[in-house]
Amino acid sequence: MQTLTNKRVLLGVTGGIAAYKSAELVRRLQDQGADVRVVMTRAAAEFITPLTLQALSQNPVHTELLDSETESAMGHIELARWADLVLVAPATADFMARLVAGRGDDLLTTLCLAAECPLAVAPAMNQAMWANPSTQQNCTSLADRGIHLFGPGAGLQACGETGLGRMLDIEEIVIQTAGLFTSGVLAGRRVLITAGPTREAIDPVRFITNHSSGKQGYALATAAIEAGASVTIVSGPTHLDPPDRANCVFVTSTNEMHNAVQEAVLDVDIFIGVAAVADYRPVSVSEQKIKKSAAPSNKGITLELVENPDIIATVANSEPKPFTIGFAAETENIMEYARQKLVAKNLDMIIANDVGDDDIGFNSDQNRTTILWPDRTEALPMMSKSALASRIIELIAETVEKDD
Ligand code: PMT
Repeated sequence: MQTLTNKRVLLGVTGGIAAYKSAELVRRLQDQGADVRVVMTRAAAEFITPLTLQALSQNPVHTELLDSETESAMGHIELARWADLVLVAPATADFMARLVAGRGDDLLTTLCLAAECPLAVAPAMNQAMWANPSTQQNCTSLADRGIHLFGPGAGLQACGETGLGRMLDIEEIVIQTAGLFTSGVLAGRRVLITAGPTREAIDPVRFITNHSSGKQGYALATAAIEAGASVTIVSGPTHLDPPDRANCVFVTSTNEMHNAVQEAVLDVDIFIGVAAVADYRPVSVSEQKIKKSAAPSNKGITLELVENPDIIATVANSEPKPFTIGFAAETENIMEYARQKLVAKNLDMIIANDVGDDDIGFNSDQNRTTILWPDRTEALPMMSKSALASRIIELIAETVEKDD
C-alpha cells in the first residue's frame, strides 16, 4: 500500500557527501505516491547535479532565491504553500545552525521560514561535528520548535571515521516521513469517478443533455482524495474548478466518456459512476444547422435516437472488475428502480437519488439519498453534497475492506 498518496514533499538537499543519496530518496518517496519537488543549496549542487534530481523528480529543481524566472513560475512563497512537508535530507551542521538562527540567506532557509507545514531534517555529518555542543544545542532548539529530527544513524562514515552522524537509511527516512501523516480510509487505493452530464450533438449548435452540474461527482473526488486515494475524474462539461490533486480527463459525449473510462479503468480499484449519462444520442449529427424550414409547416421534425453504451455496466462486467458504485437518478419508484439497476448492471453499491425534488439531486448543494447494497440499505438524511460524499467514501471503504 502506498503510504504517501497525494502528499506533496518538498525535499531540501544541502551540501554534504550524503547528497548523492537524495536521488534514491526522491524515487522511494515517489514509490509511496508522493509528489516531490526539490530545492538545493549551492553547496549541494557541488555533490549532485540539479539535472539528476530534476530528471528523477520530473519537476524543475529550485536553487536560487533571487531568480526572476523561477519566481515568476513558482516562487519561494508558493513552494512553501505547495508543500505538505518540507524534508531536508541530508541536513548539514551549517544548515541546521542557519535554521536555528532563522536565517533567510538562501532559497532553502527562506522556504523553511515561510513554510507553515511540518518540517523534518535528516542530519548527516562527521561524528565529531555531530557531537559538538553547538550542533547538539541546535538539535535541541529544532526539536523544541516541533521540527522533526530523523536520525542520524551510526556506522562507518565517508571520512573514514566511525560513529553517530551518518544520514539514516533511505527506507527509514521514508518510513518516518509516512509516519508524520495519518493515512485515510482509502490510502493507496486508485479511484475512477465519472461526473457531470454528457452532451449529444444534434447539429453544430444544438445538443441533448441534462441538468447535472458535476457538484456531486467533484465532491466525491475531493472526499476520496482526502481519504488518501489517487483519483481520476472523467468529467462531462461543467462550470466547476476541478478538485486539487485529481487527474482530470474532460469529455463531451457519452462515447467519449465511455472511451476515456475504458482507458483509465485498467488499473483502478474502485469505480464510481456519478455522471448523468445520456442513454441515447441522435443516429446522425447534421453537419449544418438544421433549418426550421426543413420541417413541413406545423409538422415539426422527428429526431431518431440510438442507444449509447452503458459505461458503468461495461466496467462492472469487465475482468478484473473494480469495486463498482453507481447512482440511480429517479423521479418515481425510487427504491425499486435503484435495486433493479444494482442487479441489472452488476453493481456492488448504488446510491438512490430522487431527482424529481429541486432541493436535492441535480444542481442543488444538498442531497438526500439511500444507499443500497445487494443485502441491505441505509437511508441518509438531507446533507450537503460534500458531507454526503465523505459519508459515501467511508461506506465504500468499509465495504471494500470487508470484501478484501
Ligand atoms: O451533478 P449534480 O448536479 O451534483 O447532480 C448529481 C446527480 C443527480 C447527477 C447524481 O447524484 C446522480 O444521480 N447521478 C446518476 C445520474 C444517472 O445517469 O442516473 P441513471 O439512473 O440514468 O444511471 C444509473 C447509473 O448508470 C449511473 O451511475 C450512471 O452514471 C450510469 N450510466 C447510465 C447510462 C449510461 N449509458 N452509462 C452509465 O454509465
